[in-house]
Amino acid sequence: MNFANFRLIRANISYAEFSNFVPLNITKQYKKMNTKTKIALITGGSRGLGKNAALKIAQKGLDVIITYKNSREEADAVVSEIKEMGQKAIAYQLDTRDVKSFDAFVKSVTDHLKTETGSPNIDFLINNAGTALYSPIMETTEEQLDDIVNVHFKGVFFLTQKMLPFINDGGGIINISSGLARFALPGSSVYGSMKAGVEMMTKYMAKELGSRKIKANVIAPGAIETDFGGGRTRDDQNVNAMISNVTALGRAGLPDDIGGVVAFLCTDDAGWINGQRIEASGGMFL
Ligand SMILES: NC(=O)c1ccc[n+]([C@@H]2O[C@H](COP(=O)([O-])OP(=O)(O)OC[C@H]3O[C@@H](n4cnc5c(N)ncnc54)[C@H](OP(=O)(O)O)[C@@H]3O)[C@@H](O)[C@H]2O)c1
Repeated sequence: MNFANFRLIRANISYAEFSNFVPLNITKQYKKMNTKTKIALITGGSRGLGKNAALKIAQKGLDVIITYKNSREEADAVVSEIKEMGQKAIAYQLDTRDVKSFDAFVKSVTDHLKTETGSPNIDFLINNAGTALYSPIMETTEEQLDDIVNVHFKGVFFLTQKMLPFINDGGGIINISSGLARFALPGSSVYGSMKAGVEMMTKYMAKELGSRKIKANVIAPGAIETDFGGGRTRDDQNVNAMISNVTALGRAGLPDDIGGVVAFLCTDDAGWINGQRIEASGGMFL
């Protein structure tokens, strides 16, 4: 028995009788308040984990904005699939390394939302877009390092900063890290360090944005079979076997293992999770 029913029983009236006392306009207002469709913006939604998350988020009844860098056709296909589910979706081109382009991007997105919904705001920002770098310390160039810093740290920081005025109070930020921020594999020094950076950044976001009831969490996938890093987890049998061997559940991850975790964090049921690192790796290197 829930608490409301308990109180009604104590007052000796049924729920049906109780509803008669509730003025219709209040019921309507309440309904309206609760039926406003939430909106998630996910970077890198054209392929891989971002695509899977976008679809799973739409399945939960949210409208979705995705970004892509080069894969316009793939992004359009994701948009069509979401629309077929009955949710609204749109795709924007964005290079998340290019901080100077963020003002124009934010303006396009918020102008669109204002026209569509009457408000320029979104509810969830998912910083997912990214590229791999497998390079030993002795061989890594300054350009390679800058590229990874820009896509996995600087871009995440400034896109969040620019979007913050347009994230509804009570919303959320979800950053995507990696198991490589917890364990070290040769060749991933720069990438793993930037993901570790984004994990700490997430705690600061949670701390600073708590006054607006905005939650910030970070999901750390293990190795997943996507195009990432040339698709080597999926396509290189040796890499795939190595990952399976160090994973308690005995296989490499699939996009479906991650998208639902992202989507869960966009629900009210996850509303008390804040400032957390959630690793979804099937138990790698336990
Ligand atoms: N796969 C893994 O094993 C794994 C493990 C742990 C963490 N992660 C993290 O998960 C996230 C997604 O990886 P994934 O496996 O889904 O990779 P993916 O299949 O290669 O997809 C990458 C996505 O990011 C976009 N993107 C790449 N560079 C971009 C840039 N500079 N600006 C804007 N968008 C950009 C791509 O857009 P286009 O399609 O237009 O190129 C694509 O949508 C990354 O942050 C990655 O570090 C992946």
